Amino acid sequence: METTLASAQRYSRGAIVLHWLIAMLIMLNFAAAWIAEDMPKAEKMQMMGNHKAIGISILVLTVVRIVWRLMHKAPPMVDTLKAWEAALAKVTHGVLYLLMLAIPFSGWAMSSAYSKGEPVPFFGLFGVPALPVGTDKPTIGMFHEIHEITANLMILLFVIHVAAALKHHLIDKDGTMRRMVPWSK
Ligand code: HEM
Ligand code: HEM
Repeated sequence: METTLASAQRYSRGAIVLHWLIAMLIMLNFAAAWIAEDMPKAEKMQMMGNHKAIGISILVLTVVRIVWRLMHKAPPMVDTLKAWEAALAKVTHGVLYLLMLAIPFSGWAMSSAYSKGEPVPFFGLFGVPALPVGTDKPTIGMFHEIHEITANLMILLFVIHVAAALKHHLIDKDGTMRRMVPWSK
């Protein structure tokens, strides 16, 4: 049996699985958007179709993750953290959660406005209903802008987040990474 100390210092298994699954899908979706930019029209449409479906999946998984998080307390922070580090971690995590909702929502709203209310195809399996937003050009432009700005903000926070995780793992060696990996003892 796992020691209670080790499990109390680690995120729940569900939180860990959702963290890494969502992180991978987000990176994949950035790649899809960037690769699509230089593609010919037909391929671009197909790639962006995948981008939208992956994005909707991220939104659903994020809602599940937030509900899971509210039901399972996070382990107490590593006690060697300085007060400013703990505060920065809390703010970064909070803003990451907000962006994990705001980016796909703005994408969904942009697509709904652009397609004039047509559902967003989900890998050809079914249509995700359009959001009730305007269909005029300024509305499309506004959601596009929000999508782009929030995506850029996520890149910034991702860099801070990963740099902090690596610093704690490689320099401080304080066990922060072990809290979020499934295989550690
Ligand atoms: C887009 C990708 C990622 C997103 C959106 C993300 C988001 C988050 C969020 C929101 C938390 C807080 C969990 C909570 O308290 O509920 C978290 C924790 C954590 N993440 Fe990430 N993450 C990403 C990628 C990564 C990567 C690549 C690493 C490692 C290099 C990493 C390492 C960690 C660690 C170690 C924690 C636990 C921090 C602690 O103990 O306070 N994350 N992540
Ligand atoms: C976490 C999920 C998502 C991430 C990280 C993401 C990221 C991005 C990025 C980086 C771009 C390129 C921005 C630019 O310079 O124009 C983009 C474009 C786009 N995204 Fe997303 N996106 C996500 C979810 C969605 C969703 C759910 C939809 C729609 C259902 C969507 C629809 C679009 C569309 C249509 C474009 C192209 C806009 C254009 O240039 O015309 N995205 N996305």
